Amino acid sequence: MRLDKLLISQGFGPRKECQFLIELGAVSVHGEVCKSIKQHVDPKGLEYSVNDTVYQYRENVYLALNKPQGYECSHRPDYHLSVFDLVPELLINRGLQAVGRLDQDTTGLILFTDDGKWLHGLTHPKKHIAKRYLVTTKDPIDATQIEQLAEGVALRNEIGLYKATDLVQVDEYTLQLTIHQGIYHQVKRMIAATGNAVDTLHRSQIGEWVLPETLAEGEWQYLEASDLLKLQHQ
Ligand code: URA
Repeated sequence: MRLDKLLISQGFGPRKECQFLIELGAVSVHGEVCKSIKQHVDPKGLEYSVNDTVYQYRENVYLALNKPQGYECSHRPDYHLSVFDLVPELLINRGLQAVGRLDQDTTGLILFTDDGKWLHGLTHPKKHIAKRYLVTTKDPIDATQIEQLAEGVALRNEIGLYKATDLVQVDEYTLQLTIHQGIYHQVKRMIAATGNAVDTLHRSQIGEWVLPETLAEGEWQYLEASDLLKLQHQ
């Protein structure tokens, strides 16, 4: 791959800017400064540096973010900050998208990618990827509410019943549950359908991939091939 093309693919900007970086001597490959935009490099596993920062070539990027409260999952948020403020601009430049959405007041695991096919695979309604949440409620949770969630609740303007699985009551006001669809405000609407209300909502897991405790709120990490396998697990 031509060096300027590689830089464009990695988010360093349009062709002119990438060519300028190379001609300035800001780009090194295998420790050698490359000043020719026509130089070809093998991108597979390539480590290169731009302005002394080392990067690894990635054909696509996959990220997990521990979302704090008060961030919208949109490039142009209406009332709050954007989750895209929490990831590097280089990644945004290459077309990073959020995989589904969390409400601004929901915390926890949200994924990002620039791989449209992968995004579609994870969000397609037919895939039923499991999403696990920790919910605290305004009123005490009773056995009837848990039963209703397990059996399925009807939601206004939606067809069929919406069920939660793997229900675990942690304490009087706290519940863990898994849902297998991803409709708008699904958990809040399901809890409301039982006569209770959500106080806080945190997503802890997608598929078999659990948000690591070491990933602090507002921090992100790359997902590697082994992580992607766990995410697709149904
Ligand atoms: N369900 C909700 O109600 N809100 C979220 O952010 C995610 C799932």
